Amino acid sequence: MEEHMSELRRVCVTGAGGFIASWLVKLLLSEGYKVHGTVRDPSNDKNDHLTKLDKATENLQLFKADLLDYNTLETAISGCEGVFHVASPVILTGISNPEEELMKPALVGTRNVLKACSEANVKRVMVVSSVCSVAFNPDWPHGTIMDDSCWSNEEFCRAIEHWYSLSKTMAEKEAFRYAQETGLDVVTLCPSIVIGPLLQSTVNVSSFLLLDVLKGSSDLIEKDRNWHFVDVRDVADAALMIYEKPIQIGDLFDMLKNIFPGFKYPENFRGLGVDLHMSSEKLKKIGWKHRTLKEAISDSVQYYEEAGLLNLE
Ligand SMILES: NC(=O)c1ccc[n+]([C@@H]2O[C@H](COP(=O)([O-])OP(=O)(O)OC[C@H]3O[C@@H](n4cnc5c(N)ncnc54)[C@H](OP(=O)(O)O)[C@@H]3O)[C@@H](O)[C@H]2O)c1
Repeated sequence: MEEHMSELRRVCVTGAGGFIASWLVKLLLSEGYKVHGTVRDPSNDKNDHLTKLDKATENLQLFKADLLDYNTLETAISGCEGVFHVASPVILTGISNPEEELMKPALVGTRNVLKACSEANVKRVMVVSSVCSVAFNPDWPHGTIMDDSCWSNEEFCRAIEHWYSLSKTMAEKEAFRYAQETGLDVVTLCPSIVIGPLLQSTVNVSSFLLLDVLKGSSDLIEKDRNWHFVDVRDVADAALMIYEKPIQIGDLFDMLKNIFPGFKYPENFRGLGVDLHMSSEKLKKIGWKHRTLKEAISDSVQYYEEAGLLNLE
């Protein structure tokens, strides 16, 4: 039974040696997942930190894979219930061939990862996109909060030669297009500028943004912009929460059935006819934190069982 459970929690993280992915791998290992991490060069010292993570010896397996090489991705993803697609080139300056350096790995890479996910019957894919696929939209009403209905304008990105944003926008759109076409469960996360301690030995681009300012350079950062930063550990938490936490009502029942398979569940549900969107933002702003849906469900059902409530007619 234990082996069966651990088999169920096998996930793949693409680009495992990168800044965000390394923290995600660390988190997944600490949460009891078995992790397949893809790296382009397993023999490169820059990935050494991964094998030193807690539980890495037993639960982390590294696979040599390139986003442009479908077969390598298929091998890494095979046998996984979920995939965190994090790998994508992060290059902001010195780009001579945007198509080859950014667009191709982002777009073809996403397509390859998702295709390999379909082949492996992966249950959910968590794609790390970026605020860059949201924010470059000159038509968005000034002062209105940008949410998941706002997309960066591809033509605008081209015009200002913001190739990284173009690559992230195209890749995220492709992920949703693929999901719609195939029914694959794809969720995305759009972090802002990610900072925080590094697990890897090389310095990634977004860490340079802050480092450069501390060293007196302002090449990459403009003072009058409304910059948004997020801690890398919070990004890893968010990625795992989105992966684990059901967002749609259908998932609530899937979750119930997964945790408590022995009950007699209804075959059909009556639709309410309204799509409810409610907010607890005000509470969160004053520091309110809530338990996960999984915890609330598990504790409720456990209580019902112990209290004999499930035996009542
Ligand atoms: N840092 C931020 O502020 C930020 C904000 C929003 C979104 N993101 C997104 O988060 C993800 C990770 O970014 P990061 O900041 O952690 O950057 P990072 O440390 O540079 O990680 C990028 C990863 O992508 C891998 N990669 C690039 N091209 C590849 C290819 N052709 N095949 C296989 N792997 C490839 C790199 O592998 P190698 O080590 O082999 O080069 C590296 O592991 C990216 O998708 C990025 O767009 C980052």
